[in-house]
Amino acid sequence: MLRVKNLYKSFNIGTDFENNLFKGFNIEFENNTSTAIIGSNGCGKSTLMNLIAGSLRADSGSIAIELDEDITFVKPDGTKEITKYRDISKFREEQRARFIGRVHQNPSMGVSPSLTILENMALADKKNESFSLRKLIRKNRIDYYVEQLKTLDLGLENKLDSRVDLLSGGQRQSLSLLMASMKHPKVLLLDEHTAALDPKTSRVVMNKTIDLIKNKELTTVMITHDMRDAVEYSDRVIMLDKGKIVLDKNSSEITAQELHQIYQDKITEMELKED
Ligand SMILES: Nc1ncnc2c1ncn2[C@@H]1O[C@H](COP(=O)(O)OP(=O)(O)OP(=O)(O)O)[C@@H](O)[C@H]1O
Ligand SMILES: [Mg+2]
Repeated sequence: MLRVKNLYKSFNIGTDFENNLFKGFNIEFENNTSTAIIGSNGCGKSTLMNLIAGSLRADSGSIAIELDEDITFVKPDGTKEITKYRDISKFREEQRARFIGRVHQNPSMGVSPSLTILENMALADKKNESFSLRKLIRKNRIDYYVEQLKTLDLGLENKLDSRVDLLSGGQRQSLSLLMASMKHPKVLLLDEHTAALDPKTSRVVMNKTIDLIKNKELTTVMITHDMRDAVEYSDRVIMLDKGKIVLDKNSSEITAQELHQIYQDKITEMELKED
């Protein structure tokens, strides 16, 4: 479970552009579930992901990850608290990467384009470890990388020594996905990860995403502007509006058309307020 509690985040405080986006925001993501986050431009979807991943720091609030083992805290008064939750809100982004995998909209962001497929796989494998580039590739892991790449069904296992910048956007995003999920993160964050791809490739990558989520039993949070993807590929749909949850439904309880209508109504409501 990922638990976000009483989160506050403002931008440009004290200026004419002050934006108090999240004001006591709460949300929980259950283990082995996939949640789609939808909402109009600027409603806070990416900011929420940045706050969870640590590329942005919250002003206050807690972001906690449920671990497999209990941890014991000794409180200032000497009493002990045993819990499975680790508050990561003060961790740097690199420290959070142990728990959180991420795939961005831009196919170049999740990979190292000037390195080969093999080197990229080895880098993902060494996530959270210190190592020297010279000793990056462990020969005894290559069979494992090949086996993992085969699951993508793109033939990448036959191109281990190809530089990643020679791959298509769809191939890169598929590789990014594999790399982001290789170390079994507690949560996989997908920020419009198919938006830069053509419709056909987008569908292929989305189907690979679902295969990976199922095979690796991942907890996923996916931002999308595609209502059909939201209901089809997730267990739960959340709609944000100006940093607030305005809809939280089980995907089986809502259709893409209904979702689209609610989304349109929200945009019209916003436009009327601006006039
Ligand atoms: N680093 C920042 N500095 C200042 N304002 C920011 C920053 N990051 C986000 N914002 C503001 O916060 C609001 C939410 O932005 P965010 O990127 O989270 O929206 P989004 O829901 O992801 O939109 P989109 O669908 O366009 O990707 C916007 O008003 C944006 O201008
Ligand atoms: Mg965004």
